[in-house]
Amino acid sequence: MVGLKEKYKDYFKVGAAVNIYTVDTHKELLIKHFNSITCENETKFVNIQPEENNYEYDQTDKILSFAKKNNIAMRGHTMVWHNQTPDWVFKDATRDILLERMKNHIYNVGKKYKNDFYCWDVVNEAIEDKKDLFYRKSPWLEIIGEDFMDYAFNYAREVLPDTDLYYNDYNESEYPKRDKIYKAIKDMLDRGVPVDGVGLQCHWNICSPSMDDFKQAMEQYAKLGIKIQVTEMDLSVFDFKDETRLDKPGIDLLKKQAAIYKEGFKILREYKDIVDTVTLWGVADDATWLDDFPVKNRKNWPLLFDENHEPKEALYAIMDF
Ligand code: XIL
Repeated sequence: MVGLKEKYKDYFKVGAAVNIYTVDTHKELLIKHFNSITCENETKFVNIQPEENNYEYDQTDKILSFAKKNNIAMRGHTMVWHNQTPDWVFKDATRDILLERMKNHIYNVGKKYKNDFYCWDVVNEAIEDKKDLFYRKSPWLEIIGEDFMDYAFNYAREVLPDTDLYYNDYNESEYPKRDKIYKAIKDMLDRGVPVDGVGLQCHWNICSPSMDDFKQAMEQYAKLGIKIQVTEMDLSVFDFKDETRLDKPGIDLLKKQAAIYKEGFKILREYKDIVDTVTLWGVADDATWLDDFPVKNRKNWPLLFDENHEPKEALYAIMDF
């Protein structure tokens, strides 16, 4: 079987999230099928600057050396986010202090991987899910104000003139959240803020989003005139609120999952001129964050390869065109 990256070479890069363990345990699949990787946690604020001015690069460097050795490109994820950010960042912070801490972090981490990462998720998940609020309530918003994203992208551009800078979010296909994501980016672009791309996480499940909604969302984001990446795709076999546990997914469920992957990738191929990379949030079903989210310690099977690293129906489905 040809590798995924080979099959998609005329369309977009195909990526996977990895961590310090899976770069070893899943290296064969990574080398054969993927030409982009994202650190699942290692490049997040809490891991890279756990204490002020104490930068920890070892884990990321380990993953980077695997990537370089195997000619795999690397994304940066993520600089400014409300999660996995250490408490010291917000402690006793005025607007000016927090901007200074934001700038130091972006400058240092940006500079360190300037020649290595081809893009960064500069801001992650700043838009609110609930209909009646625009921005997510977060310490970044509350301490700095609504212009915190402008600062983040401007700082990132200052240190990274040649790296693509992304705004990344989830529930990207849902209405009205997709309108808000669109508007936030459009307004930034109109103000001259350097946003090069929109990252669609695409944490999907067997019930949603509908592929009609995904298509409409793609159509809308395409109008921004910037690049699009799928940054964290996976497809839970359970509806979001469903707490069912299964010993093993039935063949019908896996076929349904494959059909959604197939349709999703078909839509993505139609936008190949602006889709830069499609990244899966993991490699194979033996290592997925969905085993603990949203239900703790519940097995899930969201990826393209099974627990034994064998191709699933979903993989065949996206290779069949
Ligand atoms: C997740 C990781 O996969 C987990 O290991 C970690 O415990 C929590 O974060 N949106 C994002 C990712 O932008 O960084 C998250 O990754 C999944 C949701």
